[in-house]
Amino acid sequence: MADESQPRDEARAPADSRVTIHMVASLDGFIARKDGRVDWLETSDEFSGGDTMDPGVVEAFLKTIDCYVMGSRTYETALHFEARGFGWSYGDKPTFVLTSRDLPRTRDSVEFHSGDLVRFVNDHLRPRFRSIWFVGGGVVSAECLRLGLADEVRYSILPILIGDGIRFFEKFDRDVALHLMEVKPYNSGMVALRYEVR
Ligand SMILES: NC(=O)c1ccc[n+]([C@@H]2O[C@H](COP(=O)([O-])OP(=O)(O)OC[C@H]3O[C@@H](n4cnc5c(N)ncnc54)[C@H](OP(=O)(O)O)[C@@H]3O)[C@@H](O)[C@H]2O)c1
Repeated sequence: MADESQPRDEARAPADSRVTIHMVASLDGFIARKDGRVDWLETSDEFSGGDTMDPGVVEAFLKTIDCYVMGSRTYETALHFEARGFGWSYGDKPTFVLTSRDLPRTRDSVEFHSGDLVRFVNDHLRPRFRSIWFVGGGVVSAECLRLGLADEVRYSILPILIGDGIRFFEKFDRDVALHLMEVKPYNSGMVALRYEVR
């Protein structure tokens, strides 16, 4: 079990690395419906003053991410999408799946991990990777923040309310002060917020 009492500054390893939590959520703060469906991610809004998502820019940006970390349920969703022909969203970047179960491994870039998350991030990931992205779901994002591992939170809000579902930070139980770094509206109606964890 991870030592949840460890303070943030001690939890951070000296290596020059950055841990970012990123997810896309509804305006009411959900990342998926209760049953895990994300059908609402496709919205039809238009905001004329917003930026366009240029595929070249997105591709160049994705190249700056060195590895991904996700919970097992997010991994299962990704496998399901892949099986339905929607592809694998994480390229050939190393992808670490947190799980205590024996899950299918469909590609060499996927590695499974269980146990102390603080030691895993600080001793294993931070010395090897500069830009470490936690890409969900709500359980893992909350754990990452609770353990003081995150440097940055990127919250992309879609123009939709879905009423109920899995929260961006599931069962988060304390205050975390953030510093707003960037706000970017897109012509799809999505607003991308970037915060530094204080
Ligand atoms: N909108 C978005 O941007 C977005 C992004 C990501 C995901 N999602 C959606 O969110 C849903 C999944 O989120 P979720 O909150 O239910 O689950 P999750 O965070 O993806 O996965 C939670 C599971 O990961 C495992 N785990 C967590 N911490 C661990 C640790 N330290 N060591 C070992 N295993 C650990 C545990 O499962 P085991 O039983 O395997 O141990 C835990 O039940 C899916 O529907 C997905 O589609 C949406």
